[in-house]
Amino acid sequence: MDLATVDKLLTSTRSVRKRLDYSRPVPLEVIRQCIEIAIQAPTGSNQQGWSFVIVTAADKKKQLADLYRKGVEIYAQMPQPERPVDDLRTRQRPRGLASSIHLVQTMEQAPMLLIPCIEGRFEGAPQFAQASLYGSILPAVWSFMLAARARGIGSAWTTIHLMFEKEAAAVLGIPDHVTQAALLPVAYFTGEDFKPARRIPSREFTYLDTLGQQTRLARARRAHADLRCHRGRGFCRASTGAPPARRRRPGSRPRVAEGSLLVRIAIPGTDGAPADHRSRHH
Ligand SMILES: Cc1cc2nc3c(=O)[nH]c(=O)nc-3n(C[C@H](O)[C@H](O)[C@H](O)COP(=O)(O)O)c2cc1C
Repeated sequence: MDLATVDKLLTSTRSVRKRLDYSRPVPLEVIRQCIEIAIQAPTGSNQQGWSFVIVTAADKKKQLADLYRKGVEIYAQMPQPERPVDDLRTRQRPRGLASSIHLVQTMEQAPMLLIPCIEGRFEGAPQFAQASLYGSILPAVWSFMLAARARGIGSAWTTIHLMFEKEAAAVLGIPDHVTQAALLPVAYFTGEDFKPARRIPSREFTYLDTLGQQTRLARARRAHADLRCHRGRGFCRASTGAPPARRRRPGSRPRVAEGSLLVRIAIPGTDGAPADHRSRHH
């Protein structure tokens, strides 16, 4: 497998809104191909209860876009999570917002809208059933986006029209026992390429054995590396981003940065002290 190409596809499939080329028709055959690929995704108990409604009729696209707009008006009034100004997501927000506004204003102009659905309802269902139902359609939706992107076709995952799911179901003839999972505007994208997005690094939310424990994978790895490489008795500092500890003068106290992991290592034979590991995290 050509990893470079696969990784590029996985890291550069973006939510495309401003760069959707509404003037270029998308052949149905290409979308069918993408759906054929998408349904290789896993599905709980091999149910394959999915359906994909490709909407090309102008009046139906307009009705769905109107529902989406109505939903966005409600969404805009909802409280948003408060985050520090220097949080990556806060900094990315204005750009995302501008792109979202463009989509709100133009959605019905997309050559097609795609509504992926799954048979079954969530109302009152136990948690495992809910997870199984969404898990039986969302991987296929993402696969569709990947397959489309590989063919020069962009899309954007949206859910806001689902505030009016029943009204959308009426437009598309979707029966009561079927759940809509998303709405994707679909069009060829303009420009050559997309870049990987900046994300909070995975080490910030990857844990080893227990979620939330300070034993984060990255820190644990770093500490293990330090333990392996350290020769003689002393202190190493392992943290996400802190510079490596400088060599201390004999008898001086170690300096430890906030949020760092302090590992005290006693190497048998240096002063006879037993091995001692302490860690401090914030
Ligand atoms: C469950 C889900 C719901 C989303 N709903 C909307 C939506 O209603 N409207 C919209 O413009 N984008 C929506 N998005 C797209 C996100 O805003 C987008 O994925 C995020 O900003 C990251 O950008 P990227 O996909 O380009 O990396 C949704 C994404 C997900 C996964």
